Amino acid sequence: MRLRELSRGWHRAGEVVGLVPTMGALHAGHMSLVDRARAENTKVVVSIFVNPLQFGPREDFQRYPRPVAADLELLRRASIDAVYMPRPEAMYPPEASTRVSVGGLTSRLEGLARPGHFEGVATVVAKLFWASEADRAYFGQKDAQQVAVVKRLAADLDSGVEIRVGPTVREADGLAVSSRNAYLDARERQAAASLSMALRKAADAYQAGERALAILHGTLLEELGREPLAQVDYAELVDPEDFEGPGTLAVLAVRIGRTRLIDNHDLAKPFPG
Ligand code: PAJ
Repeated sequence: MRLRELSRGWHRAGEVVGLVPTMGALHAGHMSLVDRARAENTKVVVSIFVNPLQFGPREDFQRYPRPVAADLELLRRASIDAVYMPRPEAMYPPEASTRVSVGGLTSRLEGLARPGHFEGVATVVAKLFWASEADRAYFGQKDAQQVAVVKRLAADLDSGVEIRVGPTVREADGLAVSSRNAYLDARERQAAASLSMALRKAADAYQAGERALAILHGTLLEELGREPLAQVDYAELVDPEDFEGPGTLAVLAVRIGRTRLIDNHDLAKPFPG
């Protein structure tokens, strides 16, 4: 059955529909959003779609992991109500020419580093909202700027979808769980801990009373500088609403070998763990 018909039937029966958009390769970060959606809605849809539109020409679209059987098994055990896995040709038939472009905050940080990325995200998310007619959609704080873009688009397009945001799920050493962590070899995996370590050090300094953003920024850079494998794309302190500086949201993009990792933390809050 088509997703929209399914969702309309649910709504007629008084159900409340939660949507969790993903690109698959499901991990604990995704599943935390699924669990939350389960707890807060009577029906849950998880979408799995590796969205070609949000990858740049030199990015990892081709090698992005697609463990479909394992993903479906995880979702079966989570007892959700529907998995939406559209085929790329169905999502973007050749004649499709509409793109959703969110202005302002998309020109900074991730938007600057990855031209077209947020237009790809906004287009697919709008289509997923349209197709699912969800009441609520769940996103992870791990991708902080994506959250801000999605909130903007949900409001600006009168989507009627309420955006709920889950905290970043981390490994024992602090590394934010990510499908891209699978690209790291053993030495790189060690080096990847430098992102969360830097966020933790800066948050600790804030907790200890440091309020000078220049000094907190220095702490971030100093920590990242300790790791020879870490190549900093950006490390900035921005306002969590518009992603312009200065503010207490520390946002990082760091290359470890060929793998580009992002992480963030609001320094005004204690770092978890
Ligand atoms: P993907 O990277 O698969 O992530 C799906 C959702 O899981 C996003 O909302 C992301 O922020 C969240 N997530 C990822 N890692 C997390 C972690 N460690 N803790 C908490 N949440 C985490 O983000 C996308 O896909 C795509 O851009 C998408 C929104 C599906 C549009 O294509």
